[in-house]
Amino acid sequence: MKLAGKAAVITGAGGGLGQAMANTFAAEGAQVALLDVNADLVTAAAAAVPGGRGRAYVVDVRDRLAVKAAIDDFAARQGGLDILVNNAVAFSYAPLVDMEEDIVDRMLDIGIKGVFWSLQAGTPHLIARGGGAVINLSSIAVSFSIKNAAVYTSIKGALDALTRQQAVELGAHGIRVNAIAPGSVETPGASSVIDAQGWESRKARTPLKRLATPEEVAAAALFLVSDDAKSIAGVTLKIDAGITIAGP
Ligand SMILES: NC(=O)c1ccc[n+]([C@@H]2O[C@H](COP(=O)([O-])OP(=O)(O)OC[C@H]3O[C@@H](n4cnc5c(N)ncnc54)[C@H](O)[C@@H]3O)[C@@H](O)[C@H]2O)c1
Repeated sequence: MKLAGKAAVITGAGGGLGQAMANTFAAEGAQVALLDVNADLVTAAAAAVPGGRGRAYVVDVRDRLAVKAAIDDFAARQGGLDILVNNAVAFSYAPLVDMEEDIVDRMLDIGIKGVFWSLQAGTPHLIARGGGAVINLSSIAVSFSIKNAAVYTSIKGALDALTRQQAVELGAHGIRVNAIAPGSVETPGASSVIDAQGWESRKARTPLKRLATPEEVAAAALFLVSDDAKSIAGVTLKIDAGITIAGP
């Protein structure tokens, strides 16, 4: 077991990639805190985590104090914290000129400020433990343009920059900060902005003629948080079946 004795926090873990990472980490022995704003989803997801190693926290990542309370509680129960995955997101695609202010605010508050809040809450625990691993969920949307995704891609670009910044700031504490950039992966969130034709055309454009599954993304996350990656810091790892290097 690669994560035996480790404690991990994953935001947005009620479904999609967050839930897959929770299952994968727990199957490798980690105790996992699943934070999500959707109470029904996160309760069910935590109950299904292998080995009974999941704990649900109903938290909106926009609420700085609630994020801190959840992470502090979990760290106290586990005697510390080793892994933090910043995964929560709100998807919304439209031409920038049509984006309503409240939707833009919501996306930025969840996608960027929510990551600040969990880093603020989690970092002292990781330092106290003498090191650990952070993963921020970026996207291949940073590498090329995606129609109507101006706000979403801006958020993911910010997380890439934040990843490099934090990798340097926290490296001296033995904390490795990296990012994962999935291509399109069928999840509830991605399916709300990609239609059937969109999935097919994306698949066709990848050199491997396939799209990654949530479990494959989770396997890459497992690698990055495990000791197998102990000299890897500040990278953004693409899991995209090669679509970003395929060209037009
Ligand atoms: N699926 C993809 O194709 C894809 C591609 C590239 C990057 N990503 C990134 O991976 C991450 C996960 O994506 P996904 O496709 O699994 O998304 P998803 O929408 O399927 O799941 C996101 C989860 O976050 C939760 N959430 C939303 N707002 C929240 C809030 N305010 N506080 C706490 N939880 C909240 C939702 O309830 C949901 O369970 C995101 O950061 C996304 O940008 C996904």
